[in-house]
Amino acid sequence: MRKVAQTPARCTRTLVEVLDGQVQPIPPVWMMRQAGRYLPEYRRIREGVSGFLDLCFTPKLAAEVTLQPIRRFDFDAAILFSDILVVPHALGQTVTFAAGEGPQLSPVVTAAELERLRQEVDLAALEPVFETIVRVREALPPEVTLLGFCGAPWTVATYMVAGHGTPDQAPARLMAYRDTGTFARLIDRLVEASIAYLIEQFRAGVDAVQVFDTWAGVLAPEEFERWCVAPAARIVAGVREQVPDAKFIGFPRGAGSLLSRYVDRVPVDGVGVDWMIDREFVRTRIQSHRAVQGNLDPLVLLAGGEALDAAVDAVMAAFAGGPFIFNLGHGILPETPIVHVERMLARVRG
Ligand code: CP3
Repeated sequence: MRKVAQTPARCTRTLVEVLDGQVQPIPPVWMMRQAGRYLPEYRRIREGVSGFLDLCFTPKLAAEVTLQPIRRFDFDAAILFSDILVVPHALGQTVTFAAGEGPQLSPVVTAAELERLRQEVDLAALEPVFETIVRVREALPPEVTLLGFCGAPWTVATYMVAGHGTPDQAPARLMAYRDTGTFARLIDRLVEASIAYLIEQFRAGVDAVQVFDTWAGVLAPEEFERWCVAPAARIVAGVREQVPDAKFIGFPRGAGSLLSRYVDRVPVDGVGVDWMIDREFVRTRIQSHRAVQGNLDPLVLLAGGEALDAAVDAVMAAFAGGPFIFNLGHGILPETPIVHVERMLARVRG
């Protein structure tokens, strides 16, 4: 039987407070993809395992790489080390990560291919992920927030349908237009799988979860409503039926002005924003009723120097006066120098 992590009665997790709407004098900081290839200690562990999924499913190692960026940078949050594609794996789809090529899946395009998948996610196959959460929570300083996550149904579906990453998600967009019924059933199955998966993450000890909708920005407004907004709203409601106070960060990357529709209809506690979006729009239309997270350009972090300082200052000037979590607008790039991360943190924390 898995142990359930205990939250000490008195402990201040600043990121959780921000999700509750509080303004912090210095915003909590973490980075998307903070455990990864830009860290030599990650690369050392990665070289020792055969496949990327083996790393995700070995709790001792997954917990270790989750903790590495916390030890090095003292971030305010740790994010569970795993991947959004463990869900298709636990639905019975073949998922592999070829070195340097990204994920490869057996494509699901036809109704027959969808029917070959499991109706319900195999939570037993995901048990190592829940054990990783328990291990991380035990090792983590009490004031550090632990984040779980899943991919949003639309983004996960883009990989399930194409079988690999694509520049424009055309295979999934085409399927949604040509065979709307089958595509809707695929999204429904992912909604149910995500609910079950996130409930177990909360039971294992995460403080909040982030729903990554990396490819939300390629959809026409009606499609965005149907495939991004509605599924996210169902996931939040479904999880809160079992975990009433479950905290959520939604990240519909690239949503632009459609972000206001997302926050109107999805009761997330915080919203992640990329670096392309208008900051004034986010401040007045979004941060007025939700915590905001982001929005430093990962490329300016790679560039470093005075450009980085100026970009950090601009993000802080826009958002630090309200409930705000400092982060990048997308994942850190593997070639980013560690000294640039240190410089960013020093600038944010003063
Ligand atoms: O530190 C963290 O953020 C936690 C771990 C994490 C990973 N992937 C580890 C990973 C998280 C939260 C993800 C999310 C994820 N995975 C997303 C959504 C966020 C985003 O970045 O857009 C997506 C679209 C995926 C799918 C995925 N996983 C792709 C397209 C790739 C290949 C591209 C790449 O970056 O290599 C992965 C592999 C992956 N996931 C790696 C890591 C550290 C690199 C694999 C390796 O180390 O061999």
